[in-house]
Amino acid sequence: MAIISSKKQSPQPERPDENIFFASEKKTSYKTKKSQSQSESAELDALLAVEATTEEKGSNQNEEKIRPQRLDEYIGQKDLKEVLNIAISAAKSRKESLDHLLLYGPPGLGKTTMSLILAAEMEVNCKITTAPAIEKPRDIVGLLVGLQKGDILFIDEIHRLSKMTEEILYPAMEDFRLDITVGQGKTSKTRSIPLKPFTLVGATTRVGSLTSPLRDRFGIIQRLRFYEVDELSLIIIRAAKLLNTDITEDGAEEVARRSRGTPRIANRLLRRVRDYSEVKKLTPINAEVAGEALELFNVDPLGLDWTDRNLLRTMIENYNGGPAGLETMAAATGEDAQTIEEVYEPYLMQIGFMQRTPRGRVVTSAGWRHLGFSPPDEQLSLKL
Ligand SMILES: Nc1ncnc2c1ncn2[C@@H]1O[C@H](COP(=O)(O)OP(=O)(O)OP(=O)(O)O)[C@@H](O)[C@H]1O
Ligand SMILES: [Mg+2]
Repeated sequence: MAIISSKKQSPQPERPDENIFFASEKKTSYKTKKSQSQSESAELDALLAVEATTEEKGSNQNEEKIRPQRLDEYIGQKDLKEVLNIAISAAKSRKESLDHLLLYGPPGLGKTTMSLILAAEMEVNCKITTAPAIEKPRDIVGLLVGLQKGDILFIDEIHRLSKMTEEILYPAMEDFRLDITVGQGKTSKTRSIPLKPFTLVGATTRVGSLTSPLRDRFGIIQRLRFYEVDELSLIIIRAAKLLNTDITEDGAEEVARRSRGTPRIANRLLRRVRDYSEVKKLTPINAEVAGEALELFNVDPLGLDWTDRNLLRTMIENYNGGPAGLETMAAATGEDAQTIEEVYEPYLMQIGFMQRTPRGRVVTSAGWRHLGFSPPDEQLSLKL
């Protein structure tokens, strides 16, 4: 299976595609030197010759080694797997491409992994790109034109696509067609170019930021949820086997409990614990060894790290636990607002330490207590 990224394109020679616009693109001026028909076909040929086919090996060898390859190795996300299993069987029996799929949820829950698994199950290629890497029309055209029948195009951070790219995608997704406008003004013509049927898999951490025309074109929209401790334990045991590391069941559970419901974090913590056990010659990794190691790395028993605790503490000490707005929290802690919203907050809300209210974020009583403070309601009852 080829994993291909548009980010790693080899430099393209300058092409005469300046005069090619998309039906959606409003451009005011350009010069045509060649005769109309000659330049039109040259332009189209040039544009369609754009390729984005560089083989991409996993950037992180270790991460690639433990990434599940098939659906039955993908642990948890029962509902998602069931929906996709049906979609795969149906598409295979009809010999059609899979329906377009939108996956959303916090980072590290397995969106990219699932896209690669779908390609493996469907026995097709998966081209991987990310919305910010698609800058010009030629980028998306190159990707679409290079797809073989049934291939998967995976676009990460799909909420960040430009309007123009989105509009090129609409007919491509709906009718497997590219609408290209050649020329300008009265002499301009729109050409439709057929594409091979493909599957677009979009991934996003912010489904609310997707435009509705784009969202509506996905046949399957699925949310990935945080993983349970027993699911993460299985992920850790599997990864440990692949990394030739000896870990006991309770050792895996200890790491799992501190992994914020997230496989990527589970795998990262496992590597830290493995380093610790190797250096200290404490094998196998049991609950005690895992606990000691993670204490050393400042990961507390619920998986909160320094930033999580700093967020909660700042809200408690400076704003009496809230409500505080996102921007206020960002300014007070020096963290980026978007990172707070997408990375830290979802887990703090999941474990019931923080709530979103119309007036801002509030730390719950459980959050106060976890940091060693008495919540305001208890302070009140103590005074009475
Ligand atoms: N269900 C799973 N079973 C086993 N391992 C998993 C599972 N989901 C994810 N992983 C592991 O977690 C790592 C991170 O997953 P992945 O890269 O797919 O996350 P992502 O949702 O695409 O994250 P991001 O939003 O940051 O792109 C993978 O390398 C993989 O090894
Ligand atoms: Mg990803």
